[in-house]
Amino acid sequence: MLNKPEIQISPSIIATDLTTLGSDVASFDPAIIDLLHMDVMDGHFVPNLTFGPGYIKKLMTHTEIPLDIHLMIENPDVAIAQYLELKPRYLTIHYESTRFPIRLLSLIRSTSILAGISINPATPIASIKDILPYLDLVLIMSVDPGFYGQKFLDIALSKIKELKNIIHALNLERQIVIQVDGGITEENIAEVVKSGAEIIVAGNSAFSGGNVNENVLKLKKAAIS
Ligand code: DX5
Ligand code: ZN
Repeated sequence: MLNKPEIQISPSIIATDLTTLGSDVASFDPAIIDLLHMDVMDGHFVPNLTFGPGYIKKLMTHTEIPLDIHLMIENPDVAIAQYLELKPRYLTIHYESTRFPIRLLSLIRSTSILAGISINPATPIASIKDILPYLDLVLIMSVDPGFYGQKFLDIALSKIKELKNIIHALNLERQIVIQVDGGITEENIAEVVKSGAEIIVAGNSAFSGGNVNENVLKLKKAAIS
């Protein structure tokens, strides 16, 4: 369990050139880039295929920035051991991908990695209410997962607020952080943060134009405006 952080930005690496990221990542300023968001997609849970633990293991030798792994894969229990070995800061599974979220979240936590559960836009907050004591992060998807560069879905805002209220009522504020992922821009980030999100994933808006440090600083500034 971590103390509650300030707003953090987690650039989603699928929005950049993965073939050159090993050398590009040297220019990412760890004082600006809080986390690196890794979208693992298996072509089954989502209609896209990205990378797996082998790529992440190589990439992490090039940077000290903590990893934030977002698993969009079927049967995460089969592959979880390979991701635990990587020792990310956060390891997030999808609620819709497993019948046994408590078992998986407990396994993640038993290795001192912070455990996250993610819900798709169509999944109600009520689905995860009972498992909140078993986790450290809730990732609210603000797009249907699978691709970067999609448009933010406004339904995420009311879900963030609803979750924030439940976390408060259950007195879990010091334990759980809310992360939001999908379609975040300089234009909508302030509203997302005002609703209660604390870790913001940014793909397109972090990498477009190529200067990730500058883009993330702009997002942080916009977040508190
Ligand atoms: C969507 C991924 C996101 C995505 C974010 O399936 O989980 O992390 O890369 O990219 P943007 O910010 O461009 O929507
Ligand atoms: Zn993601």
